[in-house]
Amino acid sequence: MDNTEFSFLPFALPEIGEEEIAEVVSSLRSGWVTSGPKAKQFEADFSFWLGGGVESISVNSATAGLHLALEALGIGPGDEVITTTHTFTATAEVIRYLGADPVFVDVDSTTLCIDTTKIQNAITPRTKAIIPVHFAGRSADMIGIMDIAKRYGLKVVEDAAHALPTTCNGKLIGTLDSDATVFSFYANKTITTGEGGMLVTRNSEIAKRARIMRLHGINRDAFDRFTANVPSWYYEIVAPGFKYNLTDIAASIGLHQLKKAHLFQKKRQAIAERYNAELSGLPLMLPPNSESGDTHSWHLYVTQLSEDAGISRDRFIEKMYELGIGMSVHYVPLHQHPYWRETYNLTPEMFPVSQRIYEHTATLPLYTRMTEADTDRVISAVKKVLGRQKTI
Ligand SMILES: Cc1ncc(COP(=O)(O)O)c(C=O)c1O
Repeated sequence: MDNTEFSFLPFALPEIGEEEIAEVVSSLRSGWVTSGPKAKQFEADFSFWLGGGVESISVNSATAGLHLALEALGIGPGDEVITTTHTFTATAEVIRYLGADPVFVDVDSTTLCIDTTKIQNAITPRTKAIIPVHFAGRSADMIGIMDIAKRYGLKVVEDAAHALPTTCNGKLIGTLDSDATVFSFYANKTITTGEGGMLVTRNSEIAKRARIMRLHGINRDAFDRFTANVPSWYYEIVAPGFKYNLTDIAASIGLHQLKKAHLFQKKRQAIAERYNAELSGLPLMLPPNSESGDTHSWHLYVTQLSEDAGISRDRFIEKMYELGIGMSVHYVPLHQHPYWRETYNLTPEMFPVSQRIYEHTATLPLYTRMTEADTDRVISAVKKVLGRQKTI
């Protein structure tokens, strides 16, 4: 019996090398385990890696980074922030943290990112900002979004949890003209620190505020300025901040993951290209590539079953599991969740594109540790399940 046939292929796995492990061990041995020299180095490396004169503020999650960015922009009660329903709840919950209200917009059926043509209708006198999500690692229409933002005087915070490295018109996400961009280093992301994130901005006021609010509202500038005259134990609290700092243990992993970001993207792209080549012709819509010349991070490989597939999405996923393949769904849209649905009176009819995608979508495994044999296994499982669709 071939063992691989019956082992389970997980949906996602991180790729952690000996360099990451050695760096973590060196942090543990150094005695400096919370935010310190390695978190600082990770921030400097991240800014250098992105280019474009940005500042990077490391945080313990992208959720924290999104919260800090909106807080630094002054979003508060009574304000509205436009975002997409087709995302993870973190994108919208940070708006609620500040007492503001999200206004949900449907997605474009090709990119699965926010539909730029629908943003304008969602703008009211209360609108302060837009949070586009670079869904699955393909850039949102940042040119259209920035154009609307400029015309209406709105702030833009990019949810780039999926988008490292992704480009828009040849520029890396993180170096565009938005107010801030937030990356995630959660376990399944394109680079990981276990939990972690990076807030990136070219606006020094946002950077300063985010650094203060990330650590209890301690005014580091005051601290630094006066250390020559007062004992080093002295600090000042200038706001009721949060506890969002990234530890050196996590940053140790990030330092080495970042060096491999382009290599990881190439591996992901190769798997996506094999899927594209092998799965065409099945009753399955495959994810489109980026605009020509742009980089897709391929964080997720999101497919949609065709109407004539002869099998429900749920059954498709069940059958794939029976064949030992981990699958997922991106996403159960926010308008389906009780909290969002009931708080904002949302119905599926308000988001026809997202709803249709949700009902047909299934995400295949895609990660750098997948071998050619793993990819073959996924391909033959999909063919097996969808090739016999009439009898299922
Ligand atoms: C689109 C999107 N935004 C935000 C987040 C939050 O990231 P984190 O887990 O780092 O807080 C995620 C996490 O999966 C996500 O997918």
